[in-house]
Amino acid sequence: MQEKKISLQPEYINAVKKYTEAYGVAHARAPRAFVQTFGCQQNEADSERLAGLAKSMGYELTDTPESAQLIIVNTCAVREHAEKKTLSVIGQYKHIKAEDPELIIAVCGCMVGQEHRRNELKMRYPYVDFTFPPASPQMLPKLLSERLAGGRRVFVPGEERPPICEDIPVHRESKHRAWVSVMYGCNNFCTYCIVPYVRGRERSRAPEDIIAEVRGLAEAGVRDITLLGQNVNSYGKNTDFDCDFSTLLRRVSEVDGDFRLRFMTSHPKDATFALIDAIAECDKVAKHLHLPVQSGSDRILERMNRHYSVESYMEKLDYLRARVPDAAVTSDIIVGFPGETEEDFLATLDILRRARYDRIFSFIYSPRRGTPAAEMEDQIAGEVKSERFARLIELQNEITLEKNRELVGKTFRVLCDGVSRTNEKYLEGRTEHDRIVIFEGEGIAIGDTVELEITKADTFNLFGKILEK
Ligand code: SAH
Ligand code: SF4
Ligand code: F3S
Repeated sequence: MQEKKISLQPEYINAVKKYTEAYGVAHARAPRAFVQTFGCQQNEADSERLAGLAKSMGYELTDTPESAQLIIVNTCAVREHAEKKTLSVIGQYKHIKAEDPELIIAVCGCMVGQEHRRNELKMRYPYVDFTFPPASPQMLPKLLSERLAGGRRVFVPGEERPPICEDIPVHRESKHRAWVSVMYGCNNFCTYCIVPYVRGRERSRAPEDIIAEVRGLAEAGVRDITLLGQNVNSYGKNTDFDCDFSTLLRRVSEVDGDFRLRFMTSHPKDATFALIDAIAECDKVAKHLHLPVQSGSDRILERMNRHYSVESYMEKLDYLRARVPDAAVTSDIIVGFPGETEEDFLATLDILRRARYDRIFSFIYSPRRGTPAAEMEDQIAGEVKSERFARLIELQNEITLEKNRELVGKTFRVLCDGVSRTNEKYLEGRTEHDRIVIFEGEGIAIGDTVELEITKADTFNLFGKILEK
């Protein structure tokens, strides 16, 4: 099946341009747009398109909502905390709108893929002008032009298969790192997860479009490219192009240029040995696999609808370790899924010991309205969840410290990301294994690659010294 493709509609972009030009004449400067992003890399990638669209319509980008004439909030719904935070931020924009009635506030992303959140914004946040669903940034010009022309507030629901729009301009945040979506949506319906409900079914971009985008990035000097999808290993399924993800990875890695290639996320049920072979054999592909296990208990994995067992997961990990001995492996873990017993939780601690992840992203289970797990009767009490969460982190910290210490004395090529977030006297960058290294580096610029020897390691940081630039 070929996904429905659409193009941008210039008439709406031109209509907004008329407004921004008139604003420019009246205020002796262009109006400003503030794009705020919550959530995952997919949302960051979408926000770069929203910012690109805003610029193409005559807005300048700003970092401060107070100075904006257009605020776009790109939301996340993966856990309750993310939604609460977003709603409170939107609530604060009420005051900015009170000062400047011309301000337009748009909300998009996963939170407004849910009907009850759209209704809530419509009824209780009258200063929100319109919402549009995730995976549809191309709707911005139409909705904005209609609202600027005095149209009513609209709250657009998502579609099952939103069309793919390839010609949206992108304003990239970084000159040396870039996201490239290879597919959108998800078909997996893990019982805890809201994503398939808000982002629709899986849709793959055509390989030629992906390769053309990567070629453009490589030519522009981008050094680190991440292919994105909720489950990249479903890439190409049910399409009429004959290209699965491991083939795509090989084809993309053949694009000329000095760049490192990453990808996320791999669902363990769909990660193939062919994918691991591609990691082992393609020089450009980073030796890092993010393979979220979620739980170490087969019983819980089944209740989560994950379609793999601990043993089949470990088989793939063992194959990776055999083919790529120095590969870094990271994972996501959920604690406190409904029905999780102490024994199930101990099995999760056990898989941490077996897999020896370099790093995990751990989450306390958060019931999401409309998902099967939220309806399960045996929800776990808050204090039990928190206690397990603390034990999980404690064990992983021990493992991370051990693994980090093994790196002392080793050398890595590191792509510099700028001033260190932990200590502003230093710089930081990432290895191909996605490990952050802090180092002293006079004269090193963002986007430079340096060769570092690891001199010191603690649980959270690696420190390095420059061997050569
Ligand atoms: N498609 C990706 C990412 C999904 S969201 C994947 O399958 O890995 C990122 C992570 O958030 C998930 O891996 C899961 O660990 C966590 N997560 C998703 N829904 C959650 C929920 N309801 N409560 C707690 N954590 C959740
Ligand atoms: Fe959510 Fe599962 Fe899809 Fe990931 S694979 S987005 S966890 S439903
Ligand atoms: Fe990402 Fe949050 Fe949506 S994690 S897919 S922005 S629910």
